[in-house]
Amino acid sequence: MLKAKGLDKKYGRQTVLQQASLEVNSEIKALIGINGSGKSTFLKIVAGIVNPDGGQVLINQRDVTGLPPEFRHVGYVPQHPALFQHLTVKDNVLYGLRKDAKTEYTKVIEMLGLQDVLHKRPHELSGGYKSRASLARALVPQPQILLMDEPLTGMDVVLKERILPDFRRVLKELQVPVLYITHDPKEAELLSDSYAVIDNGKIHSVDTWKEAFDMIHTSILQAYSC
Ligand SMILES: Nc1ncnc2c1ncn2[C@@H]1O[C@H](COP(=O)(O)OP(=O)(O)OP(=O)(O)O)[C@@H](O)[C@H]1O
Ligand SMILES: [Mg+2]
Repeated sequence: MLKAKGLDKKYGRQTVLQQASLEVNSEIKALIGINGSGKSTFLKIVAGIVNPDGGQVLINQRDVTGLPPEFRHVGYVPQHPALFQHLTVKDNVLYGLRKDAKTEYTKVIEMLGLQDVLHKRPHELSGGYKSRASLARALVPQPQILLMDEPLTGMDVVLKERILPDFRRVLKELQVPVLYITHDPKEAELLSDSYAVIDNGKIHSVDTWKEAFDMIHTSILQAYSC
């Protein structure tokens, strides 16, 4: 599915990624790291929004490293729901889609419980529904992999606990591989099958969310010298 191999990225003299490698197979994988650890940079390189200084990105065995985002067939859910404010939920989800994506549209809308808000505009939606609409928009084109960059940032923890198992059910039913970025190992646990931690420019696979929690905790203590 996804193979990112030896990715390097510097911004000026700051090294953000140093030989960062990660694989996502038929699974929901969480990539966990503290603020500024390079999570979004890594995801943007996979999506084709940012160019790496070195390394390779393969999607379904195809080397897409030099390709622009539209040729990669990835779904991307950014940190803040990026919906067009002047369009309804329905038009947002269908924006730029081919006519034959209609079947998937009906299925995804129903699965995410968006039927009753299709005529509304983003400013009329609660945070939870904005996130659902944003996810629907990324899923309807049937991406080969879905990339989610802390899509629930700022959301109440009670709402997260309701929405994440819902997202998991939908993603599993559609059988789409997912790379889910978060700084919160507990959030990762509600959604994911497997976990990796990004720290000091490198990515480490871990077996449990608890192991991720311990690594993150150590990173925080080191970063803030407390
Ligand atoms: N376009 C850019 N130009 C210069 N520096 C950048 C740029 N984008 C990111 N950085 C820097 O690279 C580092 C990693 O940023 P990145 O956004 O990937 O981290 P993150 O783990 O997603 O952080 P957060 O948890 O705050 O979202 C940070 O120090 C950031 O300031
Ligand atoms: Mg980020």
